[in-house]
Amino acid sequence: NNLDTLYRQVIMDHYKNPRNRGEITDGSLTVNMNNPTCGDRIQLQLKVEGGNVSDAKFSGEGCSISLSSASMMTQAVKGLPIEKALSLSEQFSKLVQGNDIDDEDLDFGDIEALQGVSKFPARIKCATLAWKALEKGLNEEKEETTE
Ligand code: FES
Ligand code: FES
Repeated sequence: NNLDTLYRQVIMDHYKNPRNRGEITDGSLTVNMNNPTCGDRIQLQLKVEGGNVSDAKFSGEGCSISLSSASMMTQAVKGLPIEKALSLSEQFSKLVQGNDIDDEDLDFGDIEALQGVSKFPARIKCATLAWKALEKGLNEEKEETTE
């Protein structure tokens, strides 16, 4: 069906032409996260300015789902306020588990294609790897700024 085709096309596109793959050199937050199921790991770097995620880049090794999800995630969170990025992450995790999302104002863009992952429960951890790194980084950032 259409979702399957979209799912494959979007994943392959981001896997072959990853957006925001690389490193940020100037004063950013670095988070390492690994998927204990397979041992793949990802490094996410974020730049947060004035409460907004102004830049996001990733590096590391993983399968097509984890790397394409990282690519889509960095694309989606750039420019978002921290709270909005965290809420996108929360909704994304519902989406890949096959649940409906309940925040209509969030713009999912390409990410929506990853809904197809819900049919393959073993791959959900792949899809959420980069997002876990995002949550960890942003929560640390929040703690630091409220201290
Ligand atoms: Fe990623 Fe099995 S752990 S596919
Ligand atoms: Fe390791 Fe997908 S198989 S992250």
